[in-house]
Amino acid sequence: MADKKAQLIIEGKDPIELPIYEGTLGPDVIDVTSLTAQGYFTYDPGFVSTAATESKITFIDGGKGQLLHRGYPIEDLAEKSDYLETCYLLLYGELPTSEEKEEFVAMIMRHTMVHEQIHQFFHGFRRDSHPMAVMVGVVGALAAFYHDSLDITNQRHREITAHRLISKMPTLAAMVYKYSIGQPFVYPRNDLNYAENFLYMMFSTPCEEYTPNPVLAKAMDRVFLLHADHEQNASTSTVRLAGSSGANPFACISSGIAALWGPAHGGANEAVLNMLEEIGDESRIEEFIERAKDKNDPFRLMGFGHRVYKNYDPRAKVMKEHCDQVLAELGLGNDPLLKIAMKLEKIALEDEYFIEKKLYPNVDFYSGIILKAIGIPVEMFTVIFALGRTPGWIAHWKEMIGGSYRIGRPRQLYTGHTARTYPDK
Ligand code: SDX
Repeated sequence: MADKKAQLIIEGKDPIELPIYEGTLGPDVIDVTSLTAQGYFTYDPGFVSTAATESKITFIDGGKGQLLHRGYPIEDLAEKSDYLETCYLLLYGELPTSEEKEEFVAMIMRHTMVHEQIHQFFHGFRRDSHPMAVMVGVVGALAAFYHDSLDITNQRHREITAHRLISKMPTLAAMVYKYSIGQPFVYPRNDLNYAENFLYMMFSTPCEEYTPNPVLAKAMDRVFLLHADHEQNASTSTVRLAGSSGANPFACISSGIAALWGPAHGGANEAVLNMLEEIGDESRIEEFIERAKDKNDPFRLMGFGHRVYKNYDPRAKVMKEHCDQVLAELGLGNDPLLKIAMKLEKIALEDEYFIEKKLYPNVDFYSGIILKAIGIPVEMFTVIFALGRTPGWIAHWKEMIGGSYRIGRPRQLYTGHTARTYPDK
């Protein structure tokens, strides 16, 4: 850590010296931990200016629209890598050799089944439950099944848990879908690759052969890859905060899934499709743009804006390229929703409000169109996001638990009642 210092002078008192630390990329940080002893807290609702931790996993430059996973640009990974290789990179910090990748893929693909009793667990839910409600429940329930690897101080246990979650999330996600449509669960197949196996578990039935379309499988793999990690976003910060209490890793990931569900976060991909369908025709785009600009209207343009990106989300660019490929492959190049999305994007990017507030399409803007083209129902979109984000959540959890950490415990600006006496009755 560098020995640069900041000075904080409060109401003419002696300056408080605060250490400044430099990272390898991005803004320096000011260490404010000593302020409590001086009788002050920092105040940063929404953590707009707060670095809650040190990390080596992912770097985002919001001004440039840059996203690096262990130093590798997302564009390169999307073009040259695949999802399981990116999982390895996030977990271990380096790209695997061909032997390491072969061993990792074989191990992941041989742990894709879930405990048979989990099948009964689903039957406590209504068939029309939102898939994310079921996902939160069944992933949290894994804590009840894997007692053999829950010593979080044991590095091997942490690794086994990471592998189990990456292996089993597609199986659980597909089971959530099958349960919602009343079809039988489909067991995973180890002879298929990760994305093919997911499509197989989602769309095959016992009644006929099902061969995953390789173009759709590759697009599915890229959707997972583009969602794999994203620094200290709301759901990852939730996983870290839950993990800081020493909670079971399956419970921590379940808390991340719950946080991701919100429409301001991972729920936006479902909200984008619902918005495009509500717009319904290019002639109504202006009406919705005006609503998004109206302070008195709670409507926001879903899939637009980002806390960090004040430029185009690099994932959205890659997602759009894959969108075009998938729709062309399926002969859906004239998909009406895609045409509305492209027209909406063009109008918004030329509108002064969006330019001034630096609101660009984010990862969720095009992902829903690909997922719909692949045949994923809208209410499953955020489950797909949770599946893709699992290696990121786990990598951050492992980074924290494998290092030195304290329980996260923010403070507050209290503006409630001062002490008062309970009235005599
Ligand atoms: C994800 O953090 C991550 O990394 C998340 C994520 C990941 O991979 O983990 O990238 C995934 O969650 C992407 C974001 C998906 N959400 C949406 O698409 C929902 C729509 N977007 C907004 O709700 C909003 O842009 C957020 C939540 C994404 C960001 O909110 P911020 O950073 O708190 O910004 P803000 O709400 O303070 O907005 C700044 C201004 C406001 O206007 P003023 O009060 O300054 O006048 O921009 C306006 C907002 O009203 N604004 C929008 C808008 N987004 C922001 N106006 C219209 N439409 C929008 N979409």
